[in-house]
Amino acid sequence: MNPGALLAWAAEHGRDLPWRRTRDPWAILVSEVMLQQTRVARVEPRWSAFLDRFPDPAACAAASLADVLREWQGLGYPRRARNLHATAAAAVEVHGGRLPDDLDELLALPGIGPYTARAVLAFAFERDAAVVDTNVGRILARQRGERLTPKAAQAAADELVPVGEGWAWNQAMLDLGAMVCGKRSAVCDRCPVRSTCCWRGGPDPDPAVGSAAVSGKQAPFEGSDRQARGRLLAALADGPVAVGRVARLVDRSESKAAQVVAGLVDDGLVERRGDQLVLPGEPQGETATPSESAPKGLGAPGS
Ligand code: ADE
Repeated sequence: MNPGALLAWAAEHGRDLPWRRTRDPWAILVSEVMLQQTRVARVEPRWSAFLDRFPDPAACAAASLADVLREWQGLGYPRRARNLHATAAAAVEVHGGRLPDDLDELLALPGIGPYTARAVLAFAFERDAAVVDTNVGRILARQRGERLTPKAAQAAADELVPVGEGWAWNQAMLDLGAMVCGKRSAVCDRCPVRSTCCWRGGPDPDPAVGSAAVSGKQAPFEGSDRQARGRLLAALADGPVAVGRVARLVDRSESKAAQVVAGLVDDGLVERRGDQLVLPGEPQGETATPSESAPKGLGAPGS
């Protein structure tokens, strides 16, 4: 792949996105976590709002998980918010309120995997780390004309980063994947790196299908557990919900509703207090009746 051709194309056609105007590691981390499973257009307003509310790790760590989940409402995949909250706490406790600029230290933070760690290194610290997300994985497989293992994809990506251009190169790869080398809509005649591509739109089978980091079809949302979980979390953002009300609220059977509740409790996204459910870390007063929030006779000795 000709790096100069891709960088020149991106300089002219690349997207002007708000998180590209900052190098603040926390702001970059929040953008990358949001962008993992949510589209750019939906992320843009939510990213700014999240950072207005939690401008740094300390602000996020000082908030309850309930408040962080409220700020995440509607973005989906709320484990991401839980992990971000935990990462903020670790940044405060272990790294003096900052995010580390070291791959292994980033990888040790909750919910930060190889993609996110390298994205923080490249986009905040301008290091020559290579990010491999679904877009980059697709480009690499097509360029090479073969399905890649995760190790091969990361090695191929590492090899390509032009020295000193980690920031621009990775943004360019993401733009190429989003704007030219689409999953079902490759516009090869506009591709700046067509000449080195083995696939060039086929007719051979697309080598990106089943290759490392390349996401497959998403399961339908309608009727899914994800939808039911989202409905319950949305209701909990407004206040406690009685366990007995969940099935009707999420429009599922009693047994499915119980499963959804158990899953959310297991994930640390919901707390059960007596027969009420609340978001984690919600003040005790958020539970409807005091008798349900503090089981009698189980307090400290002498209470
Ligand atoms: N997806 C993940 N990271 C991104 C970025 N920095 N710009 C655009 N899309 C992205």
